[in-house]
Amino acid sequence: MTEKPAKGMRQGLANYGDAGFSLFLRKAMIKGMGYSDDALDRPIVGITDTFSGFNACHRTVPDLIRAIERGVMHAGGLPVVFPTVSVHEAFSHPTSMFLRNLMAMDTEEMIRAQPMDAVVLIGGCDKTVPAQLMGAASAGKPAAMVVTGPMMTGDFKGERLGACTDCRRLWAMHRAGEIDEAEIDEVGGRLMPTAGTCMVMGTASTMALMTEALGMMLPGGAAIPAVHADRLRHAEATGARAVRMAEEGLTPDKIMTPAAFENALRMLLAIGGSTNGLVHLAAIAGRLGIEIDLEAFDRLGEETPVLVDLKPSGQHYMEDLFRAGGAAPILRALAPMLRLDALTISGRSLGAEIDAAPADWGQTVVRGLDDPIYPKGGIAVLRGNLAPGGAIIKQSAAQQDLLVHEGRAVVFDSLEDMALRLDDPDLDVKPDDVLVLRNAGPKGAPGMPEAGYIPIPRKLASRGVKDMVRISDARMSGTAFGTIVLHISPEAAIGGPLALVRDGDRIALDVPGRRLELLVGEEELRRRRSEWNPLEHAGSDRGYLKLYLDHVTQAERGCDFDFLEKPQRIARTPLPTE
Ligand code: FES
Repeated sequence: MTEKPAKGMRQGLANYGDAGFSLFLRKAMIKGMGYSDDALDRPIVGITDTFSGFNACHRTVPDLIRAIERGVMHAGGLPVVFPTVSVHEAFSHPTSMFLRNLMAMDTEEMIRAQPMDAVVLIGGCDKTVPAQLMGAASAGKPAAMVVTGPMMTGDFKGERLGACTDCRRLWAMHRAGEIDEAEIDEVGGRLMPTAGTCMVMGTASTMALMTEALGMMLPGGAAIPAVHADRLRHAEATGARAVRMAEEGLTPDKIMTPAAFENALRMLLAIGGSTNGLVHLAAIAGRLGIEIDLEAFDRLGEETPVLVDLKPSGQHYMEDLFRAGGAAPILRALAPMLRLDALTISGRSLGAEIDAAPADWGQTVVRGLDDPIYPKGGIAVLRGNLAPGGAIIKQSAAQQDLLVHEGRAVVFDSLEDMALRLDDPDLDVKPDDVLVLRNAGPKGAPGMPEAGYIPIPRKLASRGVKDMVRISDARMSGTAFGTIVLHISPEAAIGGPLALVRDGDRIALDVPGRRLELLVGEEELRRRRSEWNPLEHAGSDRGYLKLYLDHVTQAERGCDFDFLEKPQRIARTPLPTE
């Protein structure tokens, strides 16, 4: 007879060579915190405390913890709060992406090491949700996600403001001299008027909506504003549900199946979501041995229109999506395309949850399949001799007449090089050129910064040029827009073809044909390759930077560490069509 796995305080004992003593000591220690035997005999639900004075998007985490604790106790469980790494976009050097895997490792190991039967993850700011889902997938204990939720909108001189689409737009106006120093200071104080995450369709909103479609969040949780009372009720319900999940043994691998990932990818396309969502989903899937098939994802994009009218591609904000019903009307519109049998953490299928959601009412934020914002999915996958491992473009946010374009390369070797020369009046650049930024990928920068939104050189911007073809191995904020090719793989820093581009080369972009080509002969490319030298980073001989540089994967594998992926690939997603 196989022994049942240990539960509650009996699981994962510290090893002193005497299990009885280990349990005795643990109980003695925790009794020092005032717990009763009755409390200690209950199912234990861990709650990740990601509050940090450096994470503005997580200001409400203490309130959420209290609500989750309430839910756990109502359901007969014992809530135990524990801290993990917390990462905010603007407070993480060199980038939050550099630290995402550190947070994922911390989350995984703390869930595994400590005696809990289930865990409620509190995330919100861009990298936190993927990090937590990666960690929870690997830890393998029942896990439920709660996000902090989006901010309410701000205002400036009667205009509604949303972070960070309007941060960029108003900063560009300041650079152009249209807004003075005093005004931009005032704007800075009005962009983020409440607690919560960015309230446009940036990475935080994208990840929240994808997590709900993935089934790892109770229905309705993605769009509730951070400061709304419903946010606390949702947290309380999640705490209660986590106790049942512990009893049912509803582990993440039962929820995050290839079908569930396909549903999340549909959501990404239909919301015109952040391109970062694709990288993060690849990393989460990789933890379970599931590979994102980029070509199949591209086919999904051909048949999945953008339905949600939210900034930066539309006009509304997350609080408007909340009032329109949140994720439910999106999922209902997408239902004919979804894998409705996919199980969610509620214990019911996604299809059952869609049926149970309140009926749609007249609203203008989520369109139907017959009246989309953009007829195809926002993101297209490109291949070609410049991107043998793939590249992506958010075509819904591009200038449509640039989607097929050939131009002369203007190359920036690094972020520093770009900062130095981009606005130089002597820069040899014309509106139909292709701006190339390299050494800004996972290893190059390092940390794959959101630098793909290469600004239009000042001399052209001042002549009214609004968009150009821009290509790089970097990422881009979900709040940015333009004809911008991202995530070129392999990146320049490991000798990808992007490293071989020279000023004046011709580059051809053909989005309908899904091609990105460097129009230079094979022999010349071979010659350039023989002259190429790998990039060296100062301080890369120790610590987390060394671990990161030695093991980070390319964008199509999610930029996870290779040793954290499940060693065997067991499935691909999206699934083949029947
Ligand atoms: Fe945290 Fe935008 S900075 S979500």
